[in-house]
Amino acid sequence: MKIEGKHIVITGASSGIGKSLVELLSACEGVKIVGAARRSELIPTKEGIVFPVSADVSTQDGVDELFSFALERLGHIDIFIANAGFAYAEKLEKPDWKHISDIFNLNVFSPIYSLEKFARLASSRQTQFVTLISAVAYFPLPAYALYCSTKSALRQFFEAYCYEKENNLTISNVYPVATRTEFFKNAASGSVSLPSLSQDADTVAKRIMKGIERNRRDIYPSLIFRVFLPIARAFPFLIRIYSLNERRKMSFLLDP
Ligand SMILES: NC(=O)c1ccc[n+]([C@@H]2O[C@H](COP(=O)([O-])OP(=O)(O)OC[C@H]3O[C@@H](n4cnc5c(N)ncnc54)[C@H](OP(=O)(O)O)[C@@H]3O)[C@@H](O)[C@H]2O)c1
Repeated sequence: MKIEGKHIVITGASSGIGKSLVELLSACEGVKIVGAARRSELIPTKEGIVFPVSADVSTQDGVDELFSFALERLGHIDIFIANAGFAYAEKLEKPDWKHISDIFNLNVFSPIYSLEKFARLASSRQTQFVTLISAVAYFPLPAYALYCSTKSALRQFFEAYCYEKENNLTISNVYPVATRTEFFKNAASGSVSLPSLSQDADTVAKRIMKGIERNRRDIYPSLIFRVFLPIARAFPFLIRIYSLNERRKMSFLLDP
């Protein structure tokens, strides 16, 4: 979909990939953007172009409020980018229902509920729903079991939904590799090393924009990952080697 002139909503706009998207998309002719995050003061602003809003999109009320705000400011929404998400880097020990539901609320329930709302709004106009999934939907990353499970759930939901949706709605699933943002700092109480192969947020955001413009169903911001993925799926032992190597790097956390 051509980005110029579009009305766009981005969640998780205060940091990392979401913040880069706001900065890059707001330079496109005629766009209007609603950026949402809890720390709305960190969302880049541009008079009359970017409208920041404080919203906790891990709750139904938060998503409802975001849609109300966006429709009031923009009139309609052409592109919705479900980007907000987080991870735990941890050794799973104590049974903790809230710990599990917190990550599923934001990473899984929120994008799916947002899609349901977005799909209901769509008239005959062409619209696009973009979701930040992750390479971990394909490659298990030790110490991130809960996070991997949220992204795999999301991937399978959108893979299936592609066959159920109306023709005027484009679904784009984004599979970034490790991206150098606040994400890893927030994932663990101490510092954790980045998985092999990483990119910066601006590169990921630029590839997402290109994918949107080309109506891509799957967007792979890393070319190396895109080439390696079918090979690894044909030879699954390669995925096991990758996971074992990452496990070794996380042994300080998993075997304290
Ligand atoms: N970084 C990576 O290696 C990587 C790789 C693959 C996929 N991804 C995915 O890409 C997306 C963006 O990640 P990132 O690296 O840019 O992370 P980030 O720098 O940590 O940014 C996360 C964003 O999500 C927002 N957020 C968190 N909880 C929220 C809530 N309850 N309500 C509203 N906003 C919330 C944060 O804003 P506030 O804290 O201000 O609310 C922040 O703007 C995530 O879905 C992530 O899973 C990341």
